[in-house]
Amino acid sequence: MKRMILLAAVLLSNMAAAQTVINTKNTSLVIDASETQVPRLVYYGTRLAESDLASLSSAGFGSTAVYPVHNDASTSLEALSVRMPDGNLSTDQRVASVVTDSWEGGATVRIACKDPKYPLEVTLVFKSYEDQDVISTWTEIRNSGKKKGIVLTRFDSGCLPIRQGDVWVTSFGGSWAGEMTVNCQPLGPGVRSIFNKDGVRNTQTSHAEVMISLDGKPRELTGRVIGAALCYSGNYELRFETGDTRYSSIHRFFAGIDPSNSNYTLAAGETFVTPELAYSFSTEGLSGVSRNFHSWGRKYKLAHGGVVNDILLNSWEGVYFDINEAGMHQMMRDIADMGGELFVMDDGWFGDKYPRNDDHTSLGDWVVDRRKLPGGVEDLVAEAAKDGIKFGIWIEPEMTNSRSELFEAHPDWVINAPGRELVQGRGDTQLVLDLSNPAVQDFVFGVFDGIMSKWPQIAYIKWDANMDIPSQGSQYLSNQEHLYIEYHRGLARVLDRIRAKYPDVAVQACASGGGRVNWGFLPWFDEFWTSDNTDALQRIFIQWNTSYFFPAEAMAAHIGASPNHTTGREIPLKFRIDVAMSARLGLELQPSAMSAEEKALCKSAIADYKGIREIVQLGDLYRIVSPYDGKGLCTKLYATPCKDKAVFFWYRTVYFNGEPVAASLLAGLDPEKNYRITELNRVGSPLSFEGKVFSGRFLMEQGLDIPSGNTAPGPHRDYASHVLCLTAE
Ligand code: DGJ
Repeated sequence: MKRMILLAAVLLSNMAAAQTVINTKNTSLVIDASETQVPRLVYYGTRLAESDLASLSSAGFGSTAVYPVHNDASTSLEALSVRMPDGNLSTDQRVASVVTDSWEGGATVRIACKDPKYPLEVTLVFKSYEDQDVISTWTEIRNSGKKKGIVLTRFDSGCLPIRQGDVWVTSFGGSWAGEMTVNCQPLGPGVRSIFNKDGVRNTQTSHAEVMISLDGKPRELTGRVIGAALCYSGNYELRFETGDTRYSSIHRFFAGIDPSNSNYTLAAGETFVTPELAYSFSTEGLSGVSRNFHSWGRKYKLAHGGVVNDILLNSWEGVYFDINEAGMHQMMRDIADMGGELFVMDDGWFGDKYPRNDDHTSLGDWVVDRRKLPGGVEDLVAEAAKDGIKFGIWIEPEMTNSRSELFEAHPDWVINAPGRELVQGRGDTQLVLDLSNPAVQDFVFGVFDGIMSKWPQIAYIKWDANMDIPSQGSQYLSNQEHLYIEYHRGLARVLDRIRAKYPDVAVQACASGGGRVNWGFLPWFDEFWTSDNTDALQRIFIQWNTSYFFPAEAMAAHIGASPNHTTGREIPLKFRIDVAMSARLGLELQPSAMSAEEKALCKSAIADYKGIREIVQLGDLYRIVSPYDGKGLCTKLYATPCKDKAVFFWYRTVYFNGEPVAASLLAGLDPEKNYRITELNRVGSPLSFEGKVFSGRFLMEQGLDIPSGNTAPGPHRDYASHVLCLTAE
């Protein structure tokens, strides 16, 4: 079997240096892991030829500590800092052994290091995913002492030295209804930190992924780019350090669990495993790195990755808390008539003593409110079956309200700093359950288990979480510094139990919209709710940025009403449909408020989407014209891996009177193939190239003249859009 991994122990000229090489299809990472020395990164980039490898060190390629610890890092930041039992703040980690194993997707390399004086061992693990061009890393930190704890005050997953140059970093921020804002800056002197301290929703305000562009201002389709994603569900900090060039010619990138208020006391004999930090390198620009992460995520991370997700109607924006039996029946009938496959009943269906009529009460009381649903959920699942669709339900199991039967029974289950007033969130009554407590873990598991065992027909659960941890304090833990970490260990235990018992049910990660969009969550989830912002114009930007690290398969995109709760803006239905069709299509509106014509448009779009969803959800993405380029345009294309089919999305976001419009160049096609073009969701007369055949080369080099502005059909020039299907003949 051809194994891409080459592990070489190359003896270099003057000293016995063990060069450990980790290859993927197109990339190499080289570490100098010489025994008794500090492990150093020698190279990360395009796959090296053996001749390059042999010359690498002698050619004077700079190398630097791959996991700087407080001692050898001297004037720079460190990835690991500790407090030894005697108060010593330094450690000295020297290579003791290097062990390599293969697994079905690549190899793992374990570089075991030891402190010669203290019982602290740090193993650096590197794992290659050959076909996806992803190499990930994490550390296993062990207190090999017999009695005393060692306090970890910084414990990053990894550090990546990057040669100084015109290096730009693209990072992401945003919060409720304004998720996934983008920030792109050159790296300059000093330290830049990207962090999340929410405790629960770790993509509120920032994201744990960055693109590092090595050739100046990033481009979508060309240029060398490294993508990095910390796969973790809790608080994190990513740091970039650019030192004074007199001392160092590198930038350093660090990523790991945020240690603030979270020092970790490692008991004697205990090993702390840091979260996985995944890197990908591509010479095909930002989109190249995105394609690698999408394919890696679908194959190795996402629950049921590689299997297309259903087209659904979610009740939230249609009825909010106003759940009732007749209303649910009507919505199910409507989505079934439009060709949808699943109906999801959102918030508002539960509560006995305290009915859930708004966000002030009832979380924790997961009993059906029979005043609203006299026939219970059993009636709804039966009705869904009659309509020929699946049924899903909303829960927020990690939370309670101070007005709930659960809180009355278990006030000690909520997170709250000892002796402090309760800090209450959403609805001024929301509280976070303390998942470090095993009794709470059992309860949260029981919420899911109770629902699934009562109504096994349920095919989909929307798992929401709408609060942070504002007042750090566990009524269960004795060491309060462990709460942030133990919360997420508890959550992982619960989710593992759920997945062991219910491997098939689809679960959506939602957290005040897109508050949990991180690869550390997605192994338990099929998809995420991208944002409560369903304004199609703003969604173009949110979905564009989300696609940097996450595939369309996981990105829920719903056709909302217009105007809707987000911006109150009027947007034509066709545009709303075309935007939602570029990810996992769904609807989030009240169908009874739609005209027959609007329903017919949605019905035909759903039918067409079924024909292209495999290309969109599982295909290779080429982002072409960015909505941020100021051209009032956004274009992107999904292609099948063998490039026999593609779907091109074209959105006019702003119409400038008289502005000349360039031809739209496509990307990602096979230049040698001929493609027939057909437009989906067409409104108005056909485009001049409808039904015609062009070579991939022509489409990528000359492009298509898509009428815009003055020549665009219809009254909505700002919101002109086209979805073009390309089929190779
Ligand atoms: C927040 C979510 O983002 C919404 O989609 C909806 O499920 C509400 N919670 C329900 O309370």
